[in-house]
Amino acid sequence: MRRDLVIVGAGGFARETAAAVRATDRWNLLGFLDDDPALPGTVRGGVPILGGTADVPPGAAVVVCVGNPRAFDVRTGLVRRLALPTDRYATIVHPAASVPAGCVLGPGTVLLAGAVLTADVAVGAHVAVMPQAVLTHDDVVGDFATVASGVRLGGGVRIGSGAYLGAGCLVRESVAVGEYAQVGMGAVVLRDVPPGQVWVGNPARYLRDVK
Ligand SMILES: CC(C)(COP(=O)(O)OP(=O)(O)OC[C@H]1O[C@@H](n2cnc3c(N)ncnc32)[C@H](O)[C@@H]1OP(=O)(O)O)[C@@H](O)C(=O)NCCC(=O)NCCS
Repeated sequence: MRRDLVIVGAGGFARETAAAVRATDRWNLLGFLDDDPALPGTVRGGVPILGGTADVPPGAAVVVCVGNPRAFDVRTGLVRRLALPTDRYATIVHPAASVPAGCVLGPGTVLLAGAVLTADVAVGAHVAVMPQAVLTHDDVVGDFATVASGVRLGGGVRIGSGAYLGAGCLVRESVAVGEYAQVGMGAVVLRDVPPGQVWVGNPARYLRDVK
């Protein structure tokens, strides 16, 4: 039987996740929840906005799909505020994503179309993996991280919790990106990125601290 599901958020990532949900028959998508007072009662991408984030229907599975590169810690804050037990969170995997045996995904994590995990990849809870991201052998991705489209991680890379990897960046094998650090679009990361810093360019270098 398909389980009821609500998506928290109604922005771009939420609608992308709705498309992934509809591409499977695992879930009965009830709608979005969003705190923008203009949204409840409206429809986005064919999905109704049911209410605010405090209106999670009893028993429904939940996935939190907010992810803005300018405020990438918001997903962490929302999950903490909801304070739901782990078994309420859905893990959403688009049928065109590749997750072989030996790879693990945490609750609340979303893999969009074309995401590829190769071997023994561990992805934590509430992680967003956007289209065409490639995570290779022995990578470890911490809770609340965001891996934007087209990112490529070499083997044994460690991504700290809440970190944001911008679209198309490349991370050399065995390198670590610290907690709540941000890597810019197209960066080539050759050295460890300390927590809470923004790095850009090829080779990637410090730009500023995360605001
Ligand atoms: C890295 C990032 C967070 C910086 O944002 P910002 O602080 O607003 O930076 P600014 O646009 O003010 O640029 C500051 C400087 O960094 C440079 N810069 C910004 N992003 C860069 C990038 N990705 N690569 C190289 N240089 C970059 C700018 O050219 C500018 O250089 P200058 O001072 O010599 O002119 C942002 O550009 C980025 O890459 N975000 C990720 C977006 C993304 O992946 N979106 C996909 C999902 S929606």
